[in-house]
This record gives sequence, structure tokens and C-alpha cells, in this order.
Amino acid sequence: MTERRSPPLDEVPAPDVSPEPSDKSSSRRPADAMPSLCRRAEARLLVVDDEEAVVRMVERVLHHAGYSNVRSVTDSSMALGVFEEYRPDLVLLDLLMPGLDGYAVLEQLRARMLEVPSPIIVLTSDVTTVARQRALSLGALDFLTKPLDRIEVLLRIANILEVRYFQLRQHAEKVLLEEKVRERTNELEAAQVELLDRLARAAEFRDDTTGEHTERVGRMAARLARALLVDEREVRLIRRAAPLHDIGKVGIPDEILLKPGRLTGDERLVMEGHTAIGARILSGSRFRVLQLAEAIALRHHERWDGSGYPEGIPGDRIPLPARIAAVIDVYDALTHARPYKEAWTPEAAAAEIAAQSDKQFDPWVVETFLELQHAGSLLTTGIL
Ligand SMILES: [Fe+2]
Repeated sequence: MTERRSPPLDEVPAPDVSPEPSDKSSSRRPADAMPSLCRRAEARLLVVDDEEAVVRMVERVLHHAGYSNVRSVTDSSMALGVFEEYRPDLVLLDLLMPGLDGYAVLEQLRARMLEVPSPIIVLTSDVTTVARQRALSLGALDFLTKPLDRIEVLLRIANILEVRYFQLRQHAEKVLLEEKVRERTNELEAAQVELLDRLARAAEFRDDTTGEHTERVGRMAARLARALLVDEREVRLIRRAAPLHDIGKVGIPDEILLKPGRLTGDERLVMEGHTAIGARILSGSRFRVLQLAEAIALRHHERWDGSGYPEGIPGDRIPLPARIAAVIDVYDALTHARPYKEAWTPEAAAAEIAAQSDKQFDPWVVETFLELQHAGSLLTTGIL
């Protein structure tokens, strides 16, 4: 047998462990400093030592002190397997063993430690500085010198277990706190998404009570942005920002916004003001999603050739998210019926977008848009 699970109760000679003191007052001292009996009963200890007699005596000492979960390994090649299955709170490890010595076992265990590593006390009769430094560098926490002293063994174990329990408590609190922070962050993000969505719906409520246009613009703009190799985090923000492109329409009077016929020149100027109004509503935010929304609201009617509004800025002076939203906004408007027009077929709308390449729209954005449209994957974004 090279591993025992139950502590032996038999008395065996202990050549390198000092005998238990018979004086009652001195035998109480280590117990007073030790973890409570309850804790000692719970603590899992692993002893790795090729000397059967040492193992038995250590087990007996631990058992008498109230440690009832002790496993022992006398074949060092089994140490790692038992360690991984048992996950001890503390390991007592001999250094000089045949086959895998204590240093090799230390290396094995160190590679498999969990977030709160199990402390390892090295048992050694080799007390040279070099040996200690080597063991410490491999992850040993403390040393017990052979022949072992019963009181010292118990006190050292008790102290290290106290630290172990403190670290475990701290770790559990950290995990709990991180979980709470994650939950709160998720809630805040969900609230933000919902608020932005409702804001976009409010903006278009007067001429699109379903909010479907804003929803589609958000999804298709994100899809197009991803195809244009925009950073994925930015893609997700564009998904939320693009639906707000027409939020400035809240500032346009009904008689102009809902006018069934053609707008007069003055009316058109008022209508074009929805870009600046939208940007004003969204301006000054420190959140990237609203900064993007502001840029899109202000620039989604600018044209690649510089003949758009509100300022007529050309080319790549128009922010890319706005160039993307411009194509998508027009495509979606063309392919859906409005009170004053029939819905175009996707093919006819795509042909119109293609015809406006290098005029109204960025040719690079149009080219990528047409690939997606042709593949039928404009709305298959996987982006919620
Ligand atoms: Fe617009």
C-alpha cells in the first residue's frame, strides 16, 4: 500500500518524531493556538513521505489533535494524482525520496494549484541554505526539520491553516463581489440598451409607430460595420447608436414632418435641421455610444461628394459610422412603403445605392454593402 485514507490508531515507534509530552499543561499549549476542533475536523491534510514510520507517527499526532481528514502517500509518484483528487488544505512533503524527490513533486504541484494555492510544508533533515532556497523557489511555504517535534508540527500546521482559511474567505468574498459587480453591470447595460431603443422609437414614433425602421437600421449598420472590419466593440456600439440617427425629428413640426406632398424650399431647410437638432440632443456625453450617436445624427445626410447637409463636408471627413448609416438609412427607406411611396424591391434599391456610389455614398462602403445585400446577409448579424 502506498496511500492510506484513514489515520492509523495503532501506536508505532517514531524514530524521528519526539514523543507526545505527558505533562498536561504543556500538551494544552498547541491546542489553544490551533484552529477550532470543528475546523480541524474539516481540514484536509496530505502527507507525502517515503518513510512509513514517519508517516504513521505524523498521522497519529494529527489524529490525536483532532485532524480527522489525513491522507498519506509513501510513493511520491502518486502524490500529484492524490493531490488533484483530494485538494488538500495543506501538504506535508518530504524532500529526500526515491524516484521523484520532493523538489520534483513541488514542481508538479505548483503547476496544478488552484487560485488559492494549497500551502506546502517541507519535511527535511537537509537544512542547508541551498536546499531551503531551492524548496522556497519551487513554492514551499515553510519547513519542519527532522526529527520532527510534535508541538512544532501542530503549531506550524495550525498557523498555516489559519492563513489558509483567511485566504479562502477572502477569495470567496472576492468571487462573490465580482459576481455582484457582473450582475449589476449586466443590468446597467441592459437598461442602457433598452433606454436607447425606446429613445429611438420615441424619435420616429410620429411616422413609424412600430419602431421597425430604427431597429433595422441599427442591425444592418452593425452588420455593415463588421464587414468593413470595424473593431467589434465599436460594431456593438454602432448597433445601439445608429437607430438614433433621426432623433432630431422630435424638433420638426408635424405639418412639415408629416406633410404628404413635396416640401417647399423653406420646409426642406427646417426638415434638414433634424441633423443639427439630433446632434444637440446627444451632444456632450462622455459615453462612446452617445458620442457615436451624435456623429451619426449630425452627419448621416452628408454626401461623399460634399453636396450634403448640414455642412457639406466631403469624403472621409464624414465619420465612417455616419457613412455606414447613410447607406443603410436610404436602403431601408427605399425597401419599405411610406404614405407617399411604394416599397422598392431589394434589387432596385441596391441598384440605386450602387448608382450613388462616389456621389452620395462612400464607394468602399457601397461595395461592401452590395456584397452583403447580394449574399442576403444584411440582417443576419447575430448582433442583438
Ligand atoms: Fe435623417
